[in-house]
Parts: sequence; structure tokens; C-alpha cells
Amino acid sequence: MNIGILGSGMVGQALATKLVSLGHSVMIGTRDSSKLAEFTQTVPGVAVGSFAATAAHGEIVFNATAGDASLAALEQAGTENLRGKILIDMANPLDFSQGMPPSLSIANTDSLGEQIQRAFPETRVVKTLNTLAAPLMVDPGQLADGNHHIFVSGNDAEAKAQVSAFLQAEFGWKEIIDLGDITTARGTEMLLPVWVRLWGALGTPMFNFKIVR
Ligand SMILES: NC(=O)c1ccc[n+]([C@@H]2O[C@H](COP(=O)([O-])OP(=O)(O)OC[C@H]3O[C@@H](n4cnc5c(N)ncnc54)[C@H](OP(=O)(O)O)[C@@H]3O)[C@@H](O)[C@H]2O)c1
Repeated sequence: MNIGILGSGMVGQALATKLVSLGHSVMIGTRDSSKLAEFTQTVPGVAVGSFAATAAHGEIVFNATAGDASLAALEQAGTENLRGKILIDMANPLDFSQGMPPSLSIANTDSLGEQIQRAFPETRVVKTLNTLAAPLMVDPGQLADGNHHIFVSGNDAEAKAQVSAFLQAEFGWKEIIDLGDITTARGTEMLLPVWVRLWGALGTPMFNFKIVR
């Protein structure tokens, strides 16, 4: 499958590494391809392009850009290149302007997921994977035999089902909870203040939430 990954940071690189190893045709989008020169030497087979070229390449597109820049990056990706496609949004609206720990620049009555869905109404936004560290996103089996949870939020039930099947088949996710429409992204984005404090308390980002009922 052709997959576009908007974002050159550790999430984009973790996704690209995993997906190219599974035989997908992967392009990473960035404003500055030179920053990925070392990465593409280490992980051959990953193409690098502009945000627009990457969105055009992807049958499925991931948003792995910094949350405060996601709307700008997606504008650069282009409405046309995203039209009708599933956009898997894992970005968090973290505000580092006051230092660590970050606060949220969007919360309570809105979310970044909703803002993206409003800005791109013909794109099927599915919020997921934003509640855990990049290495675990693509390899949940590293922890507790994969028995821990992620969430999906989105307005399009079929898109959420497709994304859930993809995450199961490609990354090995076993426990995926459908929270409901895109407004439920408020809940997972607002987990981040808890997540960063757990990181501080546990001294490692290699943990996840497990829902017991
Ligand atoms: N790191 C994790 O483990 C983790 C876990 C869960 C969720 N997330 C979320 O996933 C997203 C990616 O995280 P990350 O740590 O991989 O990388 P990041 O440093 O948060 O974001 C890097 C990406 O954001 C783009 N970007 C930054 N400012 C921009 C601007 N003004 N205009 C356009 N694009 C801009 C960069 O573009 P260039 O390539 O052009 O520089 C780069 O591709 C974030 O929203 C983060 O909150 C991260």
C-alpha cells in the first residue's frame, strides 16, 4: 500500500521504519528533506518529499507533525491531496512555551482532531496512537504481551474500522477501543498531562494505559 507520513520526527521515523519493513511504499513528508539524509541511509527504501508530495503519495496518510503546526503542515499538504482519504492523526496540541511539562493549547471544548476534521471536511480523520510513545505505537508486543489499549475517535465508522484493522494487521494491536465521534479526541488529547507526569514518575516512556472492567 502507498503510505504518506507527514512528519520527520521520531513518530514519523518509527512509522516509516516499520511500514517499509512490511513491504509498503512509504514516503515521509518534511519541509527540509536534508534532515532525513542519515535516516534514509539507515532505512533504505523510504522516500522523502514535501508535505504535498507525501499526501499525494499516500492512500492512507498519517499526521505525525508537531501539534501546534499540524494545521499549517496539512495546509501545505493540500486539501486536494487529502480529499476522500483516511488521515490517521496522532498529533497532540502540546504547548512548550512555558517549558516542561507542556500544557495543552487546545482542550475541554475542542481538540486538535476536531480542528483538523473541520479544516478538511472531505478527509476522514481518525485520531489514534497519540497516547503512547512512538516505539510502542508500531510494536505493542514490547509491553505486557500487547495486552494494553489504544483508542480511536472519528466521525466515519468505516474509516475507524479500516484503521483498526490496519493497526491490528500491521502493528499487532489487540486492544482498540472505539470512543465515538471526533469530539472524543478531546479525551485522548487530555490524557497527555497525565501521560507526561507518568513519564516523569516512572522514568521511562515505555508504558501504556490498560483499561480493566
Ligand atoms: N514522540 C512521541 O513518542 C509521540 C507520542 C505520541 C504522540 N506524539 C505526537 O506526534 C507528533 C509528532 O511527534 P514527534 O516527536 O515525532 O515530532 P515533533 O518534533 O513533534 O514534530 C516534528 C514535525 O513537525 C513539523 N513541524 C514543526 N513545525 C512546523 C511548522 N511550523 N510547519 C510545518 N511543519 C512543522 C516538522 O516539520 P519538518 O520536518 O519540516 O521540520 C516535523 O515534520 C506530535 O504532535 C506529538 O505530540 C509523539
